Amino acid sequence: MHEERVTRAIVDLGAIRHNVRFVAKQVGDTRILAAVKADAYGHGAVQVSRAALEAGASYLGVATVDEAAELRQAGIDAPILLFTRPFPHERERVLGLKLAVMVFDLEDAKALSALARALGTCATVHLKVDTGMGRLGCPFQQAPDLADRLFALPQVRVEGLATHFPVSDEADKRFTLRQIDRMEEIIAACRDRGHHFELVHAANSGAILDMHRLGRARFDMVRPGIMLYGYPPSDQTEPGDLEPAMTLVTRVIQTRPVMAGTPVSYGLTYRAARDGRLAVLPVGYADGYNRLLSNRGKVWINGRVYTISGRVCMDMCMVDVGTDPVAPGDEAVLMGIRPGYRYTAAEMARDLGTIPYEVTCWVSRRVHRFYIDQTALT
Ligand SMILES: Cc1ncc(COP(=O)(O)O)c(C=O)c1O
Repeated sequence: MHEERVTRAIVDLGAIRHNVRFVAKQVGDTRILAAVKADAYGHGAVQVSRAALEAGASYLGVATVDEAAELRQAGIDAPILLFTRPFPHERERVLGLKLAVMVFDLEDAKALSALARALGTCATVHLKVDTGMGRLGCPFQQAPDLADRLFALPQVRVEGLATHFPVSDEADKRFTLRQIDRMEEIIAACRDRGHHFELVHAANSGAILDMHRLGRARFDMVRPGIMLYGYPPSDQTEPGDLEPAMTLVTRVIQTRPVMAGTPVSYGLTYRAARDGRLAVLPVGYADGYNRLLSNRGKVWINGRVYTISGRVCMDMCMVDVGTDPVAPGDEAVLMGIRPGYRYTAAEMARDLGTIPYEVTCWVSRRVHRFYIDQTALT
């Protein structure tokens, strides 16, 4: 512990497990793919994946081949789906790591098929359909024809059919319901042609939280991301019974007297209102503590809440603690929950005009992840 840097992200794996179990409550026996891309939204992919699998997830989702390789190197052998298209030079690794991949054009699938044959293996693919996201995927009108071609390829196992929802977290569900209609039409057309997908999947956190309105989006598997980490995707969905998993803490590195009117930090944007003390915190924007939190971010120290004083620097920021008894070594909570106090990634995101996804992804590699299991303690 002594060698650990004091600025750390404490990740409660009990909260991750709780949130996975909440997903299961929402979707019954539908399979759960835990979206652990981007280092599990900044929480640490290996530890989060293990916790999610223990709690009932049975598939993992990543955005890059390197992310999948990290999980395999850690000995995780659960099925992993690569959300994005691998480039040609990545295909061999994809097969070697036994990843399932999204495909949406025949050329890609043919290339995977040929390579799988050469390597004496089989490629697992999910047909990704664009039903309205406007990102990856084959146009929904062409999906049944592409399915015909995919199912005919040698050394290719067509395991899944997938789409993604861009506005499932908004109050108005009409667009998402239209996307579900399109998926059902594709499934029916493929069934008529004799094709069966083992895993049809679409629902992200917004759809899972609002399952009472989007029940048809359950299909065979759901793909929660942000809710696993304890946050609803927006304030327009049901909040759900979710526990934020990440707490960002540091300790006061120095306190010193500050006279009324003394300017603080770059740009001299803060001046102490009265004589008091300034606490310096060893956390800055290089840690992912965003510079937009200058004169805005909330910090909890010894049961009191303060606002960051002046600009956030690369490695430090300051808090005017007035005449309060704050001393070097005192804990400062930059993001998290304390009795009667809540300033999580969701509240910080609201203050900064962004989404909790971005806030937890900001927390940089320099910040040690420290794992606890709150539920095991209670
Ligand atoms: C393909 C795909 N599925 C599922 C998710 C999880 O979404 P959310 O974090 O909103 O639950 C994402 C994340 O953006 C995604 O890209």
